[in-house]
Amino acid sequence: MSEQKITPARTICGETSLPGDKSISHRYALLAAIARGTSTIENYSPAADCASTLGCIEALGARVRLENGRVEIEGAGLDGLREAAAPLDAGNSGTTLRLLAGVLAGQTFESVLTGDDSLRRRPMKRIVEPLARMGALVEAERGEFPPLRIRGGELEAIRYEMPIPSAQVKSCVLLAGLYARGSTTVVESVATRDHTERALAEFGARIAATAGMATVSGGSPLDARSLEVPGDLSAATFLIAATLLLPGSELRLRNVGLNPTRTAVLDFLISMGAKIRVTGECKIGGEPRGDIEVGHAPLDGGVSSGGVSARMIDELPMLAALGPFTQRGITILDARELRVKETDRIAALVENIRRMGGRAESFPDGITVAGRSAGPLHGAEIEPYGDHRIAMAFAVAGLAAQGETTIQNAECVGVSFPAFFQTIEQLAER
Ligand code: S3P
Repeated sequence: MSEQKITPARTICGETSLPGDKSISHRYALLAAIARGTSTIENYSPAADCASTLGCIEALGARVRLENGRVEIEGAGLDGLREAAAPLDAGNSGTTLRLLAGVLAGQTFESVLTGDDSLRRRPMKRIVEPLARMGALVEAERGEFPPLRIRGGELEAIRYEMPIPSAQVKSCVLLAGLYARGSTTVVESVATRDHTERALAEFGARIAATAGMATVSGGSPLDARSLEVPGDLSAATFLIAATLLLPGSELRLRNVGLNPTRTAVLDFLISMGAKIRVTGECKIGGEPRGDIEVGHAPLDGGVSSGGVSARMIDELPMLAALGPFTQRGITILDARELRVKETDRIAALVENIRRMGGRAESFPDGITVAGRSAGPLHGAEIEPYGDHRIAMAFAVAGLAAQGETTIQNAECVGVSFPAFFQTIEQLAER
């Protein structure tokens, strides 16, 4: 697949489940690799990013068996990983690279971590700096970019106040903390996703976590677990958005992750007029989940800023692309991090909204998108710049635009939601 045509849909109706949550899948796989015994992970994400994590832990000596979304991982124990024969390839996955760097900082052997062209342009000083403070030797290209060469060993616990809101950085430091002498604390001003803290507790680590602060004790062994990954709420957001846009639509999403550090997007959509109902809430393996019911609703528009932007960081592309369909438009502030994702998402959003006939302006840390008064969107050629979330956001906009939309290099959706286009086709009525 290189390009994907999207024709307008009348409605999105029915019921579906989502791929396993990408963030949680990475964490379960990494912790299983350094636990004692064999873990099983049900509903492991089919995303290319999560396959990158499995490839890396296998190269480091964990045994991995993958069958129909179920992964069995024979862990090596906290100190049982062995030096990989070649550089570890994280592909397009920032989460793989940044979290694994924390584990590798605690190993006595040397590792090289690299990735694709996009990942090799993403900032790594944010993890190099705290890992160096803990005593690891980490070399990066021009002090900032992958490949990273990591020589670990004896680490000292630190207290780390995060300069930017990032669950990847927090997780990297906490994972290194497993190998440090003493207790490592991470303090954050915005409570970012806490899957690492929850997963560490499940695997038996000594961890104390409250909103905005987590402390892990070094040296305590992890034990294998049987876990089930809930559906991915960030992937669900694209289907929810399509349902909201098309009159007469009704959709039920089964077994979606509802961790409170991830649900800001639901609150934001509800504040704009969306009718969203959650049923059957329960918790498995420390992670809340439930079914989501959504129907079409006219959207008012709104402003995202401060910690809300940080907590919706992966959903902001979809929200921005909803802007032209809202009454007042959508403005996103305090989201400078969007510039250093798989692509510069602010630039990609502005360019593609304009290609579809919408009005959008960028700021250094955000974007403002005019609402319906700027006129309806028309189909266009979309350039996602290899970014899965840009491709999916504009595919959804294309369902509600006039005429045909073409998504270039559409295979990039495989990074997080390989069956995205098939799922849309199953649910769309034309
Ligand atoms: C993630 C954290 C976020 C998010 C990414 C997944 C994670 O990145 O954008 O898609 O799984 O920890 P940052 O930590 O860079 O904000």
